[in-house]
Amino acid sequence: MNPKRDFLALADYTPDTLWEILDKARALKEEWQRTGRNAPLLKGKTLAMVFQKPSLRTRVSFEMAMQHLGGHAFYLGPQEIGLGKREAISDVARVLSGYVDAIMARVFDHEHVEELARWADVPVINGLSDYNHPCQALADGLTMYEHFGRIKGLKVVFVGDGNNVAVSLLHLCAKLGAHFVFSGPEGYDIPEKAWRLAEDFARESGATLHVERDPHKAVEGADVIYTDTWVSMGQEAEAEKRMKVFPPYQVNAALVARAKPTAIVMHCLPAHRGYEITDEVMDGPQSVVFQQAHNRLHAQKGLLALLLGGEA
Ligand code: CP
Ligand code: NVA
Repeated sequence: MNPKRDFLALADYTPDTLWEILDKARALKEEWQRTGRNAPLLKGKTLAMVFQKPSLRTRVSFEMAMQHLGGHAFYLGPQEIGLGKREAISDVARVLSGYVDAIMARVFDHEHVEELARWADVPVINGLSDYNHPCQALADGLTMYEHFGRIKGLKVVFVGDGNNVAVSLLHLCAKLGAHFVFSGPEGYDIPEKAWRLAEDFARESGATLHVERDPHKAVEGADVIYTDTWVSMGQEAEAEKRMKVFPPYQVNAALVARAKPTAIVMHCLPAHRGYEITDEVMDGPQSVVFQQAHNRLHAQKGLLALLLGGEA
């Protein structure tokens, strides 16, 4: 039996393993599109999906990924198990481990998904925490690769809040050799610890990492402009303050015009149209946001095959 393997952060995976997941995702996507089905790699396998926050993409794409691969997934909402409230996280982990083959969890505090993983006997997948969003970064990598045929050497500019999605994108770029630029207001940077880790990865991969406060300068020569909400789930009390600070970092037509004409615009979604991204850009010819959202399904199939399919 393979040792249990969790997926809590991209930082824990080697570039080779990340490519293994992306290659498997591409193969499973091709099979699905060509034949309308996938081989039942996960026949009889079950996934518990624990959510402490709302979700569209993560919930539906994991459920469909399991179904397409012959397995089964079920949803446990915040009211149902009361992770750490009704019952200790360690107890939830030990109980679920006797019922299912893997646990996917979306939590507020990153330590909670780490604690689940520590106590569970089955693989635990991070479906977003306040620290990072590694499943999103897999879909982002797949989308960039499909578009450019490579990730190494691309200039990827994240414009906005240095949040969970920015951390995973930073680590993807640093691991796979892309040139990453963060452009956001002072006080909303990517956490120092995540940046330091990325510097270590970049030394190995040849990636470069920069911060540029001026978004118009930051996107010059960009292949990818990426943005996300200015107010992440759990930050609602700061919304008013954030709405005053972030408008210079809106991804609009004037900003996109400063990037390469071949640049693509990415967003993990949900988008707040008219705030971090305009309708014109989101619905425009350079936007790949829906391909990116659909790639959550395919990227997670690659991940599930690695963790549960006995292939690695
Ligand atoms: N991008 C993403 O994770 O979307 P959901 O919050 O809808 O799952
Ligand atoms: N940064 C956002 C991402 C949602 C998928 C949040 O945490 O709410």
